[in-house]
Amino acid sequence: VDDVREHYAKTFDRAAELYERARPSYASGAIDWIVPAGVTRVLDLGAGTGKVTERLVGRGYEVVAVDPSPNMLAQLRAKLPEVEVHVGTAEATGLADGSVDAVLVGSAFHWFRRPDADHEIARVLRPHGRVGILGNSREPDSLTARLLARAAAHGGIDRDHPARRDRDQQLDPALFTSLEQAGFPYTQTVTPDQVVELVASRSYVIDLPDAERATLLGEVRRLVDTDPDVGGRAEFELSYVTRARRCERRA
Ligand SMILES: C[S@@+](CC[C@H](N)C(=O)[O-])C[C@H]1O[C@@H](n2cnc3c(N)ncnc32)[C@H](O)[C@@H]1O
Repeated sequence: VDDVREHYAKTFDRAAELYERARPSYASGAIDWIVPAGVTRVLDLGAGTGKVTERLVGRGYEVVAVDPSPNMLAQLRAKLPEVEVHVGTAEATGLADGSVDAVLVGSAFHWFRRPDADHEIARVLRPHGRVGILGNSREPDSLTARLLARAAAHGGIDRDHPARRDRDQQLDPALFTSLEQAGFPYTQTVTPDQVVELVASRSYVIDLPDAERATLLGEVRRLVDTDPDVGGRAEFELSYVTRARRCERRA
């Protein structure tokens, strides 16, 4: 299972531009719900192209971004040149002990090796520091859900795929309080091209052989073009729920 996870975790490096163009951000209210008053320095762990980083910078926090993918981080640097960036992992961030007030993780927690990452997060956080985990779920019965379910079926998504596990997993209870959860509606305005790229930016699609990926994306394109909710419009809305979880480092 660890090998499968590590294999897919590396796919993002090959699709960084696509990822940045197509993937959704997160509901603003979810960030407010996670980050308490009095926070100055925040670690965006598994920061990728900086979709969470951007939100944090916009709120005036001092942000440090860590990710193992140089290509994902290149997108982040181009967008947010003022942010401190480190190539590193959740298991070895390279940051000093107790050096951040909060750690945020956007759609990346399922890629971390546990419990190593729990120990590393506890090490870099100050006592009572906040942990926030963000992810977007598709609204059931939405266009988003239909298109991504189709892609998953064609991609032969592995039962062991990490995105399918870990939903309710707690962090190490010796180090952290238990996770609380909340959901916030989020809408992404997209073009038909972006929907195809959204599917193309999933790790299991990035990983398909070129010919299979082309066939799958061709089918997604047809599905989008013929969908009654899209109806040939140049732009339309995809609906998500930003799922937020939060806990605290024990003293
Ligand atoms: C789905 S992307 C999420 C990126 C960004 N946080 C966002 O919200 O858009 C997953 C990210 O996790 C990173 N990643 C994979 N394995 C990791 C690990 N062990 N530690 C930290 N980040 C990891 C990948 O390089 C990728 O940038």
